[in-house]
Amino acid sequence: MRSHDPRAAWRDAFRAVRAETERRAAPLNPEDQVVQSMPDASPTKWHRAHTTWFFEQFLLVPHLPGYQVFDASFAYLFNSYYVAAGPRHARPRRGLLTRPDVTEVAAFRAHVDQAVERLLAGTAQDKLAEVLRILEIGLHHEQQHQELILTDILHALAQNPLAPAYDATWPSPPPPTATDFAELPRGVHRIGWSGEGYCFDNECPAHDVLLPPAHIARGLVTNAQWLEFIADGGYRTPALWLSDGWAVVEAEGLSAPGYWQERDGAWFMLTLAGRKPVDPAAAVCHVGYYEADAFARWVGKDLPTEAQWEAAAAAGLIDDAFGTVWQWTRSAYLPYPGYRAAEGALGEYNGKFMINQMVLRGSSHATPPGHARASYRNFFPPSARWQFTGVRLADYPV
Ligand SMILES: [Fe+2]
Repeated sequence: MRSHDPRAAWRDAFRAVRAETERRAAPLNPEDQVVQSMPDASPTKWHRAHTTWFFEQFLLVPHLPGYQVFDASFAYLFNSYYVAAGPRHARPRRGLLTRPDVTEVAAFRAHVDQAVERLLAGTAQDKLAEVLRILEIGLHHEQQHQELILTDILHALAQNPLAPAYDATWPSPPPPTATDFAELPRGVHRIGWSGEGYCFDNECPAHDVLLPPAHIARGLVTNAQWLEFIADGGYRTPALWLSDGWAVVEAEGLSAPGYWQERDGAWFMLTLAGRKPVDPAAAVCHVGYYEADAFARWVGKDLPTEAQWEAAAAAGLIDDAFGTVWQWTRSAYLPYPGYRAAEGALGEYNGKFMINQMVLRGSSHATPPGHARASYRNFFPPSARWQFTGVRLADYPV
């Protein structure tokens, strides 16, 4: 519940998000926090510092009079992709930063935390709305990185032959139960964000789409179904694959979802809780768009478009929409009609990435609480498999 004083409520929200990042980093020792196992995955220490830089750069420097940056060199190290915010360290080389160490990054976080609280308490009433607007973006930004902390450390831990657990008590999401399809009727459906509350700019403007009659799976594709796909030669049958996808199968030798290993005829997978036998009932995870697409073709079905997914979720037609795995859609990540990126560096947040990526909908078991909604658009390149990504099917009445 929000209290009557909006400043106190925002301070509490800020504290909660910042604490959640630290809670996620807590099981990781300093060595864990430095490793970058591939260019797309960033070290935990970098995530902790980058999310802090975001508040410093976009909130404190412009809005807190007299604010002293913690270390002027950090902007170069911890700016991710904001060209308008200045030059930055190369993304694939983030894992080479042994300095600042985790202790100094913790001090950076504390410095910025205190300054943000000072700003919140001291901002004049007529400037508060703009401060809160940027603070809110910063909180949602940090929540996105909270999920990345887990996906990226899982990729790092997967490079270790000992298959260490991030957290041996990390719970698996409950397996999907529904196996039938819901009917999504023909009609004009409103998609995109409208109403109160927060959304990213890529969820706007809300607009109408005409959808054909479709069937959308109530549940998610399971490991049992994926094992059948493997056994039927799914990864060895080029006719099932897009040309680009087959090139990835061949180049990377794909034969199963990410983090799967076959040992003496049994399948195991690395999870945040360590190496586990593949549970046939669980939703398949760590498959890329190319695999999702090939699987759908093998079953003789489709993937939903993002508009179909959103309309079905908004209508309560589907289970497991949130909290298990992100679900690949057939939709390319494009601007909605009338979308315009904002001016300035924060306008670089989403708009410039609207090419060569596919939209995922829902959320995963690693998505922080309060960071999921029906209009949310996640996006990754079609070959990406290190996120918690799975499959929901759709098809069309004959
Ligand atoms: Fe970021």
